[in-house]
Amino acid sequence: MEGPVPERILSGKPREEDLALDTSLRPHRLDDYIGQDKVKDNLRIAMAAAQMRGEPLDHVLLYGPPGLGKTTLSYIIAVEMGVSVRITSGPAIERPGDLAAILTNLQRDDVLFIDEIHRLARAIEEILYPAMEDFALDLVLGKGPGARSVRLSLPRFTLIGSTTRYAMLSPPLRDRFGAVYRLDFYDTDAIGAIIRRSAHILGVEVDEGGVKQMAQRARGTPRVANRLLRRVRDYAQVMAEGHITEEVAVEALARLEIDELGLDEVDH
Ligand SMILES: Nc1ncnc2c1ncn2[C@@H]1O[C@H](COP(=O)(O)OP(=O)(O)OP(=O)(O)O)[C@@H](O)[C@H]1O
Ligand SMILES: [Mg+2]
Repeated sequence: MEGPVPERILSGKPREEDLALDTSLRPHRLDDYIGQDKVKDNLRIAMAAAQMRGEPLDHVLLYGPPGLGKTTLSYIIAVEMGVSVRITSGPAIERPGDLAAILTNLQRDDVLFIDEIHRLARAIEEILYPAMEDFALDLVLGKGPGARSVRLSLPRFTLIGSTTRYAMLSPPLRDRFGAVYRLDFYDTDAIGAIIRRSAHILGVEVDEGGVKQMAQRARGTPRVANRLLRRVRDYAQVMAEGHITEEVAVEALARLEIDELGLDEVDH
């Protein structure tokens, strides 16, 4: 739906101001994770099977556009499996030694979460192959003709990779994930449910008309829905005693562009 809300609010890409909101509104259990039913069903089965076998979950790759819940789902998997999660990202791992240190510090069954995994350097990615396949780390000791390689064994762990750019992943890396799940945009009902849940956590009253107005503009993206809710909540608190009716939502959304323009001018 086209409207006065500026593009930079409607993009799913994370912004500084989203960080705290993303964290506080993040569901922690699979039952609270709204929508993506196919992915949830498949994950439930895979997790139950792994638990029955007493093994860690197969490596999981989550991909899809920004703001759809990849990071959220990764944390949920760790919680549901009852294991700890180590968090890093492709661009944060600068040298092979960084990854070797992370891998050797894992505990058995841990989840290692690598965000933006498409940004891993190739030389670093190659360390992941034996780690994922054989739970092994190949180290080269010494230099030149006297160099020799030793293989260290690693604890069994689950790698969860997340990316918005599936096509940028190298095929050998892609192939080493036991499960690959694509997150899709949410329908309006699911976005509405996310808005109601977030409103409840934020302690703001919103009626169905208000939910509808925000849900229609959220572009099927939970992060955008939460961002709109926060802006509308601010308006409602000042102008409507914290109650988001349809009318309040429409006014608040129309105001957003004006506010953003004002902000941009100040920024310049
Ligand atoms: N299924 C869901 N149910 C409820 N809230 C959700 C769901 N998915 C995402 N959210 C909300 O949207 C926010 C953004 O989700 P998240 O950070 O997991 O997205 P992402 O896919 O990792 O984005 P990016 O590609 O930018 O890393 C979360 O903080 C959470 O509050
Ligand atoms: Mg993320």
